[in-house]
Amino acid sequence: MIVAEDVTKDYVDGETVVHALRGVSLQVDQGEFISIAGPSGSGKSTLLNIIGCIDTASGGRVHIDEEEVTGHAPRELTLLRRRKIGFVFQSFNLIPVLTAYENVAFSLMLLGLDDSEAEPRVRAILEEVGLAGMEDRLPAKLSGGQQQRVAVARALVKEPTIVLADEPTANLDSDTGQSILELMRELNRRRETTFIFSTHDRMVMDFADRLALLHDGRIVEDNRRTA
Ligand SMILES: Nc1ncnc2c1ncn2[C@@H]1O[C@H](COP(=O)(O)OP(=O)(O)O)[C@@H](O)[C@H]1O
Ligand SMILES: [Mg+2]
Repeated sequence: MIVAEDVTKDYVDGETVVHALRGVSLQVDQGEFISIAGPSGSGKSTLLNIIGCIDTASGGRVHIDEEEVTGHAPRELTLLRRRKIGFVFQSFNLIPVLTAYENVAFSLMLLGLDDSEAEPRVRAILEEVGLAGMEDRLPAKLSGGQQQRVAVARALVKEPTIVLADEPTANLDSDTGQSILELMRELNRRRETTFIFSTHDRMVMDFADRLALLHDGRIVEDNRRTA
């Protein structure tokens, strides 16, 4: 379970201060599939980065699985992130010199697994995301949708508590974007992994079970759908 309580974030640049988050409170239970929606500049990436321990809040508290992460030293945050959090980015962010297999295996290497422990997990998740047979391709030899599938596999292979996806479909055409959303939904159901994804696209936000709407650094709506 993820709990954010009255989280604020100020970016200070010389004399100017940007209040990117102005007191965000949000509780996300294990297994939820939630979209954080809002226009460009509303604070979506800032919020995901703080929940994902990539960045730290200026005020408020964040708990991940009962553990308060606010106040952790950078080293502790890195360790927690590696174990518990998977990230999927808008621009895929694969390592260009590594194959699809190696990009996914790298997450497990960081956790200290040896090759023989990692291999069955990497092969299984690549098959699960529909990339069996493409293990040896470099990112440049994959389509955008396939690269994002590798990124999803990389996020999931370590069996994280939560996957954070920051505008995961923004660089994909709408059919490919839809298939990535369907893949994330399938993995969410099958593995009960929590997914939080951000978007400014109406079609993408409607795909989630729950929609939290950000505006100028505040959550202005938070609705669960009944399906
Ligand atoms: N590193 C930064 N330094 C200064 N301002 C930033 C930085 N990152 C984001 N901002 C500002 O914070 C606000 C929220 O940004 P962001 O979280 O990226 O929004 P979104 O992802 O919804 O587009 C914006 O006004 C943006 O310009
Ligand atoms: Mg953003």
